[in-house]
Amino acid sequence: MTADSVRIVEVGPRDGLQNEPSSLSVEQKVQFIDMLSETGLTHIEAGSFVSPKWVPQMASSDKVFRAIRRSPAVTYSALTPNVKGLQLALAAKADEVAIFTAASEAFCQKNINCSIEESIERFLPLIEEATKHNINVRGYVSCIMGCPYDGDIDHKQVLAVTKKLIEAGCYEVSLGDTIGVGTANKVTALIRELKQEFNENQLAVHFHDTYGQALTNIYASLDQGIRTVDASVAGLGGCPYAKGASGNVATEDVVYMLSGLGMRTGVNLEKLIKAGRYICHELNRPNGSKVAFASH
Ligand code: HMG
Ligand code: MG
Repeated sequence: MTADSVRIVEVGPRDGLQNEPSSLSVEQKVQFIDMLSETGLTHIEAGSFVSPKWVPQMASSDKVFRAIRRSPAVTYSALTPNVKGLQLALAAKADEVAIFTAASEAFCQKNINCSIEESIERFLPLIEEATKHNINVRGYVSCIMGCPYDGDIDHKQVLAVTKKLIEAGCYEVSLGDTIGVGTANKVTALIRELKQEFNENQLAVHFHDTYGQALTNIYASLDQGIRTVDASVAGLGGCPYAKGASGNVATEDVVYMLSGLGMRTGVNLEKLIKAGRYICHELNRPNGSKVAFASH
């Protein structure tokens, strides 16, 4: 693997906090994001504009977006399932939005209450409106390696959904192993297939660490030329619609690995560990980062 730089998309404030049982105040979330903004990260998914009935933990995203101290070096993005979400994100001055669908019909239904086809139809006016406002749209495809309801997922299905998102106008699609069941050989095979259709720079990877495979899977993805990696500080989170989904890979552990591989991230590990410790203290939960644990 050659020395290179990797862009990390920090999803802790969204993917992490959406699934934490104890709700945080706006002030605590803002403090967390402000600490992350000081670490050298360039992309922070700071919240989501989804139905508060579905994900109550994200109901304060509007207030959070308005209160954070923004670093000009950071893109603050928001997850948006529909035009209503986009409008709220625009009003809160999100720099970018992310839409999300799945490679599995059953997961799509459970997560956003519609079929994959319907989800794409729902995204088209959202992307059109975002483009009018010069807002970039990122896409997520969940369940790339398996679904909690449908089991194994055919690569063709991942490819077809990724294609629809790219054709609809997403600048990048993040491939989500929502329940963390993938292993390196399967990740390599999937990315090889996707590369026949897309550029490496149109793809990102998003591994939950449920089975402890995330770092290995990231390594396999890097080997295939992927240079955007999603991660969540302290390994926060999971997905409320995927039972057993543990948090994303811990950002600290990704930064440590990349640094050891001679790949630049621009992220200060010490500051990142501090932000992770802060949020774990506020949530009264153990820290999911091995690197943070080892650095005591
Ligand atoms: P629905 O019930 O079918 O939608 O939900 P609806 O249009 O009938 O609306 C129902 C109610 O929600 C209405 O309010 C709407 O106004 C409101 P009521 O009239 O009942 O008072 N509503 C909204 N409120 C705020 N913001 C909005 C919004 N839209 C409607 N944007 C819907 C459909 C998509 C809204 C719902 O299913 C939803 O919000 N789902 C979100 C689920 C979610 O956030 N999941 C977690 C994130 S995805 C993830 O974690 C995976 C990822 O990390 C990748 C991976 O790991 O694989 C990205
Ligand atoms: Mg996720």
